[in-house]
Amino acid sequence: MKGIVLISGSGSNLQSIIDNAKNIDLDIQAVISNNKDAYGLTRAQAANIPTHAIDHKQFFSREEFDQSLSQTIDQYNPGIVILAGFMRILTPEFTKKYEGKMLNIHPSLLPKFQGLNTHQRAIDAGESEHGVSIHFVTAELDGGPVIAQSKVKVIKNDTAESLAKRVLTEEHQLFVQVIHWFTQNRLKLNNNIATLDNKAL
Ligand code: GRF
Repeated sequence: MKGIVLISGSGSNLQSIIDNAKNIDLDIQAVISNNKDAYGLTRAQAANIPTHAIDHKQFFSREEFDQSLSQTIDQYNPGIVILAGFMRILTPEFTKKYEGKMLNIHPSLLPKFQGLNTHQRAIDAGESEHGVSIHFVTAELDGGPVIAQSKVKVIKNDTAESLAKRVLTEEHQLFVQVIHWFTQNRLKLNNNIATLDNKAL
């Protein structure tokens, strides 16, 4: 399946997807970043994947940025759009257009800790467990139907950094698994419910 990956930063999830692409029947057509300095772009170039940097600061409005993003994505006619650490709020027009084929990874056990600084917030809240969620993207920020989660224990003396590191290891494995479900056509979004093999998740 043809796929596009959107990133904003380091791209360690992207790297895991690149490393496993063949095994999960994913053909990464391009990597797009809103941040031209994102290290993930270097990772993509090293793997001979075309890259695009579309700087959101060059646009007057969120709508115009999303239109440009959408035009770039559509050149490739992808079957899946993967948000792998893409740190932009998307307009409802954009999310509607790719509904059912756009996945996001979020570093918390949703619905807990939507938004930013999830690791520190989990520690501050005294959570005993934290983790990662992968969900279909809908208009609601970090609010689309959850597909899969992976948990880690919060341990004594954890810092946001130490916790993030353990969660990231889980992210890399879980994202590849979920993308594979999608490329196998087993994962669907039906009436705002995520299903695997026609069973609600
Ligand atoms: C990950 O924690 C992801 O869940 C979040 O941003 C981070 C991106 O990390 N949305 P990386 O760029 O994949 O290393």
